[in-house]
Order: sequence, then structure tokens, then C-alpha cells
Amino acid sequence: MSLQRLIDLAGGVDNIQRILAPVGRVTVAVRDAERVQPLPHDVSGESVLGEWQLSMARDLAITDADLAALGRSIASAQRQAAAAYLQPTACPYRPQWHISPPQGLLNDPNGFIYHDGAYHLFYQWYPFACEHKDKYWVHLKSQDLVNWTWQSIALTPSDWFDSHGVFSGHAVSDGDDLWLFYTGNTRLGHDRQRQTMQCVARLNEHNQFEKLGPLIRTLPPGVTEHIRDPKVVHRQGRWHMLLGAQTQDLQGRLAVYHSTDLQHWQFDKLYGEELAPYGYMWECPDWFEMAGKQFVVFGPQGIRSQNLHHTIVHQNRIFHVDQDEQGGFHFLEGWQLDAGFDFYAPQSMQTADGRRVMCGWMGLPDELEHPSCDNGWIHQFTALRELRWHNGQIIQQPSAELAQLRGEACTLTLNEQPQDLGTKSFDLEVTLPWDCELHLLHDDSHAVVLTLDRAQGVLRFDRTHTQIRQGDTIRELPLTSSEVKLRILADNSSLEIFINDGEQVMTGRVFTPPNATHISLKHAVADATFAPLNAMQWSFAPR
Ligand code: FRU
Repeated sequence: MSLQRLIDLAGGVDNIQRILAPVGRVTVAVRDAERVQPLPHDVSGESVLGEWQLSMARDLAITDADLAALGRSIASAQRQAAAAYLQPTACPYRPQWHISPPQGLLNDPNGFIYHDGAYHLFYQWYPFACEHKDKYWVHLKSQDLVNWTWQSIALTPSDWFDSHGVFSGHAVSDGDDLWLFYTGNTRLGHDRQRQTMQCVARLNEHNQFEKLGPLIRTLPPGVTEHIRDPKVVHRQGRWHMLLGAQTQDLQGRLAVYHSTDLQHWQFDKLYGEELAPYGYMWECPDWFEMAGKQFVVFGPQGIRSQNLHHTIVHQNRIFHVDQDEQGGFHFLEGWQLDAGFDFYAPQSMQTADGRRVMCGWMGLPDELEHPSCDNGWIHQFTALRELRWHNGQIIQQPSAELAQLRGEACTLTLNEQPQDLGTKSFDLEVTLPWDCELHLLHDDSHAVVLTLDRAQGVLRFDRTHTQIRQGDTIRELPLTSSEVKLRILADNSSLEIFINDGEQVMTGRVFTPPNATHISLKHAVADATFAPLNAMQWSFAPR
């Protein structure tokens, strides 16, 4: 039977919301089951995962091009439906200089790259609710890494290989071409069996990202369907694709493929055994060079902390790696990139002037209950940070471009008297002695408290007395310096704390009422430099 016949039985193209292609079959999920025609014996109809799905054997005459044509129709309906979610809702928690979704859920940064004289950044988006459902990619562009313009909904979950989510991936700028590599995620049948493929899209002459389909359709030996988030890099004369992966005995690993033409990929090997046990899954790898050394970043899941306050198993790590002559990876020393609450799935890119700049998701996979959900959106990106390798350490600082947003700086003497800063968006620098407490974003009944606890030897970031609904409330970072220098970036509902000139960073979402704009310091007096941070120029509107 032809695909057109199945489309007709489904009530027409506009009644199809999803297409799937389990081995040897074609399946479509319909929007309105009432519009489905009486089914012949060779087409089944059943409710799967709350959707009415029609399924038939795949006739050999049905080509990938036929499926792609149906995918384009679904994509156009999906773009139209999502267009109703492009107006940002008013919300006191909305950041004024961080990237947040107009509505719905944002998660990982994707495709962060400098291409054709501009910076491109995409985000994982579910437009319709604060939920992790079928993900889209939104495309943003910037000339200065501060002000961002909405470009388009670049990719939608419209095709048989990605209809349960256009999952994360990176971009490649190769001459005039801008490629997006991503993971196509689908869920098949009643047991939601995951089907994972590594896919590619390319920017065409109409400024649209055209999907070219899956490049890797099968799994490497010994790996589960949890293999995703391609990072593609040109090194040693060929292309390498790094993927986060899980082995069949539930160990996180780095899977590496290579290619000479970006189209045909060969599996090399799994790496990371020398770290085992190191979590049940690794997500979102990144790979880059700094000061002549190689670094791999990834998100290991399932690593528990010794600290009883730290219950979240989704971690962030950067490892110094060595590469042998065959291109094999050897993991040497590793560090946590961020010791706060909310930092995951970061991506980095090289700026036009050669700096390594990173953007993370300020959120975590299991968090879905923030006060901003009352206004229809959740999560945001972190500030961009510059990474350097200096004296055997990773140093992270807010990107130099952020200075564009700084208002006039002044000196404040911090003491126990609450001072009203008149804003929750600022850049504050202060050096503190041990055994003091800095209260931030506070009113009479809410505060974020940073304590320098000499007895425990930790900087404690405590958001217990905020409007938090989900997640840990205390993070502790061991420190040994004689005093502690802080640079704190605040933006309505977040704090990013750069410690001792960027040797450590702690990031967290912090929700306090809009007028909780006070600051005070208990058990010490210290001079601070304070500058308000102005809003970035930001356009949500599609061009
Ligand atoms: C990380 C992640 C990725 C995946 C994406 C889906 O947050 O789970 O591994 O590609 O989110 O949105």
C-alpha cells in the first residue's frame, strides 16, 4: 500500500501529528481519531502512549524521500502551532540578560558556533508546557555574544527518525556550510522502546535548516539506545564524532566515530573505562584544546556525592585527556566545572579572537517545578563564561562582552544593615573573611545566604529561605584560601558566583519576591564594587 493511501486513511496530512518507522513498518499518529477512515485488514489502528496510531507494513516502494515529504508537512504544522508560544509571558522571575524561552521549557544549549561572521546558538525547546516532551531547536544569532536575535524554529520533531525529539548536538562550520548534527529520538510501541539515530541538517540558500536524515542508524556493539548528543570536530586530517553513551552493563562511556566526508561514519571505540565506575550514562560531550592541551567535557549521570546535602546525580565534568597516535582518548585529571545547583549540558565554541567561551543549561533534567511555571516557562541559559588553562587549573570568568551591560559602578560598604540595591540584576565584587554570612536578594522573610564557614572549611550556598519548590537547597564547596574573593552575577532569579578569580564557580536558580532587592553582611564589614546590569537587546519575534 502506498504512503498516500495511509495518509488518506488517517484523514489527510493535516490530521497526522507524528510519523514513525519501526523496522519493516510505517506508523502515523493522528490528531483526531474521529477523522480516521474505516481501516482495511492490512492497516492496524490502536491507542499507543495516549495517541491513536495507524500502522502498516512498509511497502518497498515507499522511499525515505516519501517519508521526508510527509515530514515537511508535519514540520510546517508544528511551526504554526509553536508560533502561538513565541510571545514571552510577563514574569518577575524572567532574567533580563540571560537567554530564556518565551514560553515552555528550555534545556540544553545546542549548535554553539561562530559561522559566517556571526555567533549562532540554539536551544532545546518544548514550546507547549513546562515539560520534557518532543524537543525542538530554536535558532538565535548574535554579533557580540550579548544581544541575541531570534532567527527561527530551526528544527521540529517532524520526521520518522526524530518525532519524539530533535535531541541535542553541535554545529560544524565548514567553509560556507553550516551543519547541525543532532540525535533523533523516537519511542516505539507500548513499551516506549527508544530508537536513537545520529542525524544531520544543513542551512540552505533559503536560510532554512534542511534535514538530510540519519547518518548513523545502528548502535555500536555493547551499547544501549542511550547514545546521543554528537560533537563533531576536525582533527588529524579527519572528522571525529563524540557521543555520550551507556554500555549494556549500564556504565557511562564516550563513543567515538570517524569520517572523511561528514556523511559516512565508522565506529572506532568506547572510551572512559579507566574512570569506571563513573555513572550509568554520559551526556553531551564537548571536546576542545586550550593552551595546547586537550579537554573533554561531559555530563556523567549517577555519581553520588559524599555530602548529604547534595542529592542530585546529574553532574558536570571537564577532563584533561591525552590522545594517542591512533586518535584514542585517555582520561587524565578531571574537575567539576560548576559546584552550584544548576549547571548542565554545556557547550563551548571559539570566538573570532580565539577565546574559548562556554554556555550551560541553568537547570537540571529532573527539575520541573519552578515558580516561573506559574507564568508558563521554565529554565534558562547560564552567562557565557571564558575558560582558560592557567597554572594547571581550569579558570572560568564571565565573558568580557558582559561589560557592555554594566551600568555605573559604585562602592558599597556591606554590613549587617540591609541595603536596598533597587535591582536584582547586578555584578558585585567583594572579598570576604571567613566566618561571615552574605545575604542576597533578600526581604524580611526570604534570602539567599552565602556562608564562609571556617570550622567546616566550606563556602555554603544556601537557598533554603527562598521560594524554591524542587531541588537541593544547600551546596557546599571546600575552600582553603585565607580569604575568599567573589564575583557575583545576579539576574532576577539566578546567581552565578565566580570564586577566587574563577578557580571555582557556583550557579543556582534562586527565587525570591520581586522586591527582595536587599543585601547585607553578618559578622563582618567589607567594601564591595557594585554595578547594575542592564537588559540585553533581545528579540523573540520571528523574522
Ligand atoms: C541533556 C539531555 C540530552 C538530550 C537532551 C534532550 O539534558 O538529556 O542528553 O539530547 O537533553 O532534550
